[in-house]
Amino acid sequence: MTADMTSVVDFPMRRPGASFPPEQYARFREQPGLVRSRLPTGAVVWLVTRHEDVRAVLTDRRVSSNPTHDGFPSLLGKTGGVPSPDTMPGWFVALDPPEHDRFRKTLIPEFSVRRIRQLRPQIEQIVTDRIDAMLAKGDEADLVADFALPVPSLVISSLLGVPEVDRDFFEAKTQTLVRTTATDQEREAATKELLRYLNRLIKIKSKRPGDDLISRLLAAGTMSQAELSGVSMLLLIAGHETTANNISLGVLTLLMHPEWIGDDGVVEELLRLHSVADLVALRVATEDLEIGGQRIRAGEGIVPLVAAANHDEAAFGCPHAFDPSRSARHHVAFGYGVHQCLGQNLVRGEMAAAYEALFSRIPGLRLAAPVEDLPFKYDGVLFGLHSLPVRW
Ligand code: HEM
Repeated sequence: MTADMTSVVDFPMRRPGASFPPEQYARFREQPGLVRSRLPTGAVVWLVTRHEDVRAVLTDRRVSSNPTHDGFPSLLGKTGGVPSPDTMPGWFVALDPPEHDRFRKTLIPEFSVRRIRQLRPQIEQIVTDRIDAMLAKGDEADLVADFALPVPSLVISSLLGVPEVDRDFFEAKTQTLVRTTATDQEREAATKELLRYLNRLIKIKSKRPGDDLISRLLAAGTMSQAELSGVSMLLLIAGHETTANNISLGVLTLLMHPEWIGDDGVVEELLRLHSVADLVALRVATEDLEIGGQRIRAGEGIVPLVAAANHDEAAFGCPHAFDPSRSARHHVAFGYGVHQCLGQNLVRGEMAAAYEALFSRIPGLRLAAPVEDLPFKYDGVLFGLHSLPVRW
C-alpha cells in the first residue's frame, strides 16, 4: 500500500473525560497498513499502533531518532525549552548509532539490575523522608507535589552526586522544567541555571571525585565536559515526570484495586496499563521501507504509539483490565531497540519502593476527591495526573 491510497485522519488528541489510550487506537490497529495522520502542528505522519509493528519500527536501522532530519515529527511546534543534540552535546536519545553507542555503553553499568539493587537503600530512605514530611503536615496531601514528583528528582540528584545542600535548588529547577503551567521563558531560564550548576559540579568533581555517577563518567574519559553536562540534563529530564506520572497513576489504580497491593506483578502491569510515554519515541524514515504492509518513503515522519501497542489484543488479552497476574514483561512502555529506556531498572526500583512504603506506612490512605474530578493530563506529551488529593 502507498501513501497516496491512504486518507489522512486528525491525530486523536486526548480530551477531558475520554479514556486513555484514545479509543481510536483500537480502530487504527484493525486497518490494513498504517494510519496517515495530521498532528496538531500540521505535520502529516504515520501512526503505528500494533505491538508487532511498533517493535519493528523501533529496531529498523533505516529509521532515525535525530530531529535534525527533514520530516521529523514535531508534536508541539515549539521546543518548550527541550534541547536537541545540535544545541546540547550529550543529548544522546536523539542520536543514531554509531554516535549513540559511545554514550549508551558508558552508561549501561550505572543502570544495571545489580547497580539499582545496591541503590535500593538510598531510594527507600528518600521515600521514607517524603512520607515523614507528608505525615508531619497533617492528614491530607497532594500525592503528586508532595511525593511522586520529589522522589525521582531526589533519587537522580543523589545518583549524580548533587550535594545535600543543593537538593532544594535542584528539585525546584527540575520541577519548573516539567511543570505544564511553566512558560517557555521560565523553562529556558531553569535549563540555563541547571546547566550552569551542572558545569560547576562537573568541574568540582573533576578535581575532587566522589562515589557518584558524574565522578565515574569523568574517570571513564569517554565524554567531553559539555557532553557530560548534556547527559546529566537528559537523565534529569527523562526520568522526572515520567516516573512521577507512573507513581501517582499507580497509587490511584491500587487504591481502586486494593486486592493487588503487594503483588509481584503490580509494577510491570502498571507500566503497561498506563504507558505514560505514548508520544515520546518519535522517528523519521531515512530510506524507503515497509512496516506492517505499509510503504514508507524516506523523509516521512513516524509516530510509534507505545500505549496503542501495549493495549493490542494480539499481545495482551483484555488489554484495558488491570491484571497483575498476567505476564506483561513484553510491554513497550520503555520503548524498544537501541533507545530502550536506560532508566527502566531504576524506575522499577522507585515504583516498588514507593508502593511498599506508602501502603504499609499509611494503611488508611484514600482518595480525597471523586475519580471523575481528578485532573488528568490531557495537554502534555506525557499522560499522568496534575495532582492527586489523598487523605488518611
Ligand atoms: C516510568 C518512567 C519512564 C518511562 C515510561 C520512560 C520511557 C522511555 C521511553 C519510551 C524511551 C525511549 C525513547 C525513544 O525510543 O526515543 C526512554 C528513553 C530513555 N530514558 Fe526513560 N522512561 C522512564 C524513566 C526514566 C528514568 C528514571 C531515566 C533516568 C534516570 C530515564 C532515562 C532515559 C534515557 C537516558 C533514555 C534514552 C536512552 C537512549 O537513547 O539510549 N528514563 N524512556
